[in-house]
Amino acid sequence: MVYLDNAATTPIHPEVIDAMNKVLVSNWGNPSSTHGNGRKAKVLLEKSRRFFAERLEVDPAEVFFTSGATESIYIALQNFAQNGVKHFITAATEHKAVLEAVEDVCLKYTLKKTVLNVDQTGQISLEELGSILAGNELGSCAVALMHTNNETGVLHPIESIAKLTEKHRALFFCDCVQAGLFSTISPRKFNIDALSLSAHKMYGPKGVGLLYFNSKLKRTPLWKGGSQERGMRPGTENMPGIAGFSKAFELADTNKSAATEHFVRLKQLAVEHLQSKYSSVYIGVGEAPHILHFGIPDSRNMDAILLDLDLKGICLSAGSACQSGSQKISHVVQAMNLDPKYQYLRMSFGLMNTESEVLEALKLGFEPLHNHT
Ligand SMILES: Cc1ncc(COP(=O)(O)O)c(C=O)c1O
Repeated sequence: MVYLDNAATTPIHPEVIDAMNKVLVSNWGNPSSTHGNGRKAKVLLEKSRRFFAERLEVDPAEVFFTSGATESIYIALQNFAQNGVKHFITAATEHKAVLEAVEDVCLKYTLKKTVLNVDQTGQISLEELGSILAGNELGSCAVALMHTNNETGVLHPIESIAKLTEKHRALFFCDCVQAGLFSTISPRKFNIDALSLSAHKMYGPKGVGLLYFNSKLKRTPLWKGGSQERGMRPGTENMPGIAGFSKAFELADTNKSAATEHFVRLKQLAVEHLQSKYSSVYIGVGEAPHILHFGIPDSRNMDAILLDLDLKGICLSAGSACQSGSQKISHVVQAMNLDPKYQYLRMSFGLMNTESEVLEALKLGFEPLHNHT
């Protein structure tokens, strides 16, 4: 099997497994227990929080552990609404976890919603964003725009967006799930009020995520049930997950430039192969080094293409994992208004992929002579 779907999830790094095992075997206490066993777990919990705070250059009190990015996003946007936001602005290419959370929050609190269109390169118009913000009362808007698109690898111009949100005193939420392996995440530098991260996209376990939430904002727990995570996320903390996430983040953070070089090499290899084998191929412009969005002319439908690749032992996807399985065209491809004569796929590279296996998968899966072009 050649796994080329690392934007959907990554395998767990062996050092992460070791870190989790340690907790499972010898630090399995409940951090809320007051006895020694619980206090030992609490020490690890707060050490992990301080670790993330240091790396993100924020205050530990602004770091919350959650069950994953979807939960972080929902908590952040609901809390934005509780801070007096009247108008949410997002973009048509955001992950469903953001689009559906914005939809839900706006319905629940009767707020205005604007979904920005993107051009064929997946970019929003900064002029449009600026003029929408200028047309609203100062401090009344929230902007929810991702750092790196999970399907296309397109990067939003975070610094320019941050300048606009600062100028118009809008709150800024940034989904950074796909950015952690190659980019520096700095909420203060980019004037970000809340952001989400997910362990399983960076060689950590599933079921654990992080929310950064600016301490200048009011916090209102969304549900009751305990005072864990200062009420922001009641429920016993996933300690093996948090320990694994910390290790995964540490490895990713210290290995960014080597990882980026590796991804760039694999991506280049794939682009060259596709361009040499197809007389006509769409290569996405997304700059994320680990994500290649491409389109091939193929008369088969997407399910048939994916099944064929699967039978050949090649794992990649038509878009985000959450929507594969449904035959619908991805909302991202639709929003970008891409040429319908191509079938669009996402190949996403990982640290464990080698050049030879990528080449082998490309030769096996993408030879138009044998495909139905
Ligand atoms: C950009 C982006 N945001 C949010 C999510 C949701 O993350 P999680 O699986 O941790 O809930 C994903 C996962 O596919 C993603 O790629």
